[in-house]
Amino acid sequence: MTDTKTYRIKSFGCQMNVYDGERMGELLDEKGMRAAEDGEDADLVVLNTCHIREKAAEKAYSDVGRLKREDGSRPTIALAGCVAQAEGAEAQRRSKMIDVVVGPQAYHRLPDLVAQVEKGERPVDTDMPAISKFDAMPKRRKSGPSAFLTVAEGCDKFCTYCVVPYTRGAEISRPWADIVDEAHALVDGGAKEITLLGQNVSAWRGENEKGQDGGLELLVRALARIDGLERIRYTTSHPADMDEGLIAAHGEVDKLMPYLHLPVQAGSDRILKAMNRHHTVESYLRLVERFREARPDLAISGDFIVGFPGESDAEFEETLQVVRDARYASAFSFKYSPRPGTPAADMDGQVPEEVMNERLQRLQAQLAEQSLAFNRSKIGATMDVLIDRKGRLPGQMIGKSPWLQSVFAETDAQIGDILTVDILDALPNSLAGIIRPKEAAA
Ligand code: SAH
Ligand code: SF4
Ligand code: F3S
Repeated sequence: MTDTKTYRIKSFGCQMNVYDGERMGELLDEKGMRAAEDGEDADLVVLNTCHIREKAAEKAYSDVGRLKREDGSRPTIALAGCVAQAEGAEAQRRSKMIDVVVGPQAYHRLPDLVAQVEKGERPVDTDMPAISKFDAMPKRRKSGPSAFLTVAEGCDKFCTYCVVPYTRGAEISRPWADIVDEAHALVDGGAKEITLLGQNVSAWRGENEKGQDGGLELLVRALARIDGLERIRYTTSHPADMDEGLIAAHGEVDKLMPYLHLPVQAGSDRILKAMNRHHTVESYLRLVERFREARPDLAISGDFIVGFPGESDAEFEETLQVVRDARYASAFSFKYSPRPGTPAADMDGQVPEEVMNERLQRLQAQLAEQSLAFNRSKIGATMDVLIDRKGRLPGQMIGKSPWLQSVFAETDAQIGDILTVDILDALPNSLAGIIRPKEAAA
């Protein structure tokens, strides 16, 4: 094995970025490379970057700098992901250490690009080719218990703060048969749960094997028929693209988990308009209620931006109000970060950092309180938990509840097992429980 080349892939971004990282690994495996062990120097390092906020993007460059070894040598370095797409050849001017720049729609060519470096070239590939990268990649073989599957990519929404429509390109739906094949391959490889991914996953459309045209609902119902697949999730949805069929599926498809990530971003209609969100606070809350009618125990999660240009104190208070009204079980919240090339970066009324800090703190305190209340509501409940990793204490394992909470329990069960757990305690970000013995579980 001594001359097998090794690689390491570091993914910094969203779930799709993680998915892309896995696929790049599979491509390199197919070329006879292997993943470097922990602590082992890799011959190739792929930095799979995120451009969504300035901090995420800057992290890419500081990580490049850290790859120089004590003896002055360094691995081959490939900059992949959304920073690569946004900066292209400029990235190599910023850092001489970057050998390859490859965008999120071109990474099926990564092995060829790395081969070019061996010939002394510094290739940049940020094409968005008409032939999909998915057709050029090896079939999936193995999977952890919980797998990601990209079904739609790109975004046509153009929220005024967001880089995704530029880094990922126009919205496209992967064809039905490709998705179903990949789902089967993941389940054969060990997956019990699949999360369908798209920057705007609710815009997915396709035609099934009978020539029937439909949206995400049709796909979810078909995937639910795969034996061995126990749980289906999807993310991220846009409130303007949700349809009745998908709402109904939440009440009818047992394998569709009772959790919905549905970002609202802000609680003021004026700000939502400036963000180009295509929905109002009222239409959003009505949508949430309809989902809850279909599935009363649904956990709602969201994303928030504080300090969008022009956001006043009163408008921020409206964000706190929507958090209460939508009764979030969890949420991600961010300070607005101006991104080059987006319309909001040039808007008047950029909000000072101290104001954003204060708003973020208040919002996060409110969200933490609600998460804790939601988690506490599960004390005394019995639920299925999909074990996905080891805990820190000996004999402790961690898994996911149907509502995407982390559940800690002592057990000799293996990763991938689904256990029946009685919940004893709740913290802001997790639950603790005991395994119900098999005989008693019936
Ligand atoms: N496609 C998904 C994910 C987009 S990025 C979606 O539409 O929800 C994830 C989150 O990052 C967004 O929902 C938004 O809350 C946040 N975000 C995007 N651009 C941002 C920016 N410029 N500054 C701060 N947060 C941002
Ligand atoms: Fe970005 Fe808006 Fe598209 Fe989400 S819907 S990826 S926030 S442009
Ligand atoms: Fe980041 Fe690109 Fe995902 S910018 S959030 S890695 S789509």
